[in-house]
Amino acid sequence: MGLILTYEEGQTPLDPEQINGLKIKTISTQQQLNEFEQTNINEALKWLNSKRKIKAVLSEEFMIQLHKRMLGMVWKWAGQFRRTETNIGIDWTRISMELRLLVDDANFWVEHQTYLPEEIAIRFKHRLVSIHCFPNGNGRHSRIMADLIALHVFGLNKFSWGNSSLVDSSEQRKMYLKALQLADNGDFSQLIKFARS
Ligand SMILES: Nc1ncnc2c1ncn2[C@@H]1O[C@H](COP(=O)(O)OP(=O)(O)OP(=O)(O)O)[C@@H](O)[C@H]1O
Ligand SMILES: [Mg+2]
Repeated sequence: MGLILTYEEGQTPLDPEQINGLKIKTISTQQQLNEFEQTNINEALKWLNSKRKIKAVLSEEFMIQLHKRMLGMVWKWAGQFRRTETNIGIDWTRISMELRLLVDDANFWVEHQTYLPEEIAIRFKHRLVSIHCFPNGNGRHSRIMADLIALHVFGLNKFSWGNSSLVDSSEQRKMYLKALQLADNGDFSQLIKFARS
């Protein structure tokens, strides 16, 4: 297996077993991998855009389906919860329980207007990526989830995320990671601001 991967700051490295889940065996560089993943994600975005209203955005089933749509052409483990420890996420044995709690909490926030709509979307995104359900792709998945909550739960525009893909290292990515760290400490203001920048 000749694939050599490089990681940007704040990215989750893949373990050898996960790398074995690569469906396209001709991929040999990080750049090629990024391109194939982006093509796959664009297909998922087309699928999402073809839907007028998604009712069950805030559900485990939908989030699993979304991850599979985003990366299923490239990775065998797309749409499957991780079974290994990662640098960011919680203990993998607690993923399904914590995701259940997050979905329940978020539905409560929506129903009771606990926070403003954008804060609900961003709090959800942050807790989702902190759980880190999947071996990889959690950052991109969580940003799309925030967009879908804005759009389908609240009828707001999608976020702009610094007008950047955030996949490669950049000033925007640095700001994004800083905002995530503030959110780790309970301050969501910078992440909300960044998402709308
Ligand atoms: N301190 C942190 N607190 C919360 N989330 C973090 C922190 N550091 C990194 N993250 C999130 O973890 C993501 C990396 O996880 P993973 O590699 O699974 O996602 P990805 O979609 O491949 O990455 P990316 O979002 O960089 O494209 C980052 O994008 C970011 O969203
Ligand atoms: Mg990654």
